[in-house]
Amino acid sequence: MIKSNSFPIGVFDSGIGGTSIWKEINALLPLENTIYLADSKNAPYGEKSKEDIINLSIKNTELLLQKKCKLIVVACNTATTNAIKILRNKFDVPFIGIEPAIKLAALNTKTNTIGILATKGTLNSELFEKTSNTLNKEIIIKEIIGKGLVELIESKKINSKEMKSLLLSYISPLMKENVDCLVLGCTHYPYLIPQIKEIVGNQIQIIDSGRAVAKQTKAILEKNSLINSSLETSSHQFFINTNKEVIEMFTDNKLQKNITILEKDF
Ligand code: DGL
Repeated sequence: MIKSNSFPIGVFDSGIGGTSIWKEINALLPLENTIYLADSKNAPYGEKSKEDIINLSIKNTELLLQKKCKLIVVACNTATTNAIKILRNKFDVPFIGIEPAIKLAALNTKTNTIGILATKGTLNSELFEKTSNTLNKEIIIKEIIGKGLVELIESKKINSKEMKSLLLSYISPLMKENVDCLVLGCTHYPYLIPQIKEIVGNQIQIIDSGRAVAKQTKAILEKNSLINSSLETSSHQFFINTNKEVIEMFTDNKLQKNITILEKDF
């Protein structure tokens, strides 16, 4: 495929979580055109089989490539840890993935005990296991599956009582276990930072990978000479296969006219 620098960056997630990554990318690369794809109908990916996650990731990539994306950001830890290798082999376009920042947490911890909150699909993946095995053996990793969190966010219950009590049940045990760094290993979770902070106060540092993904996107665009040099105002489109309300909650007012609902069979 001939790639042009003004073609958009494609970003996909199982739902609206990846908008947390989109925001970091847009802040660092404001001249880049973008297309965001939320496969909310199929969320959560974290409870699906590896095969299903791979097939959904291929389907999302195909749509973004039809829309002429020059680079794809897999703004989903679950899809990255289960499918990025296959995507890279199958498609001739650069891919940027997101993985839980456990290496950074291992560098920052003073208690040698780090927590990670992520989906079952991420925590059970070979890639996550491989990365965990590279850490210094003294580091203890407390893994928590954030079951139910993505569903609550996708159904706009971000500030609900249910959310509060789920977060409390997942995070308060970590405080008794000497954890001093908590890695957010799912792109939906940065939207829960205010609530997590209410629970952990200053006792636990919260770490996520959003900024690092944006920097990596910039570096790979530069390496492939794909930076958009046009000075025209950038354009941004958002596609979702459920309804607009959920993605509207997480996008700027002036971008909401750019949201399109995908046809039923997607
Ligand atoms: N936002 C996703 C992630 O980073 C996926 C959550 C899900 O669909 O289970 O893992």
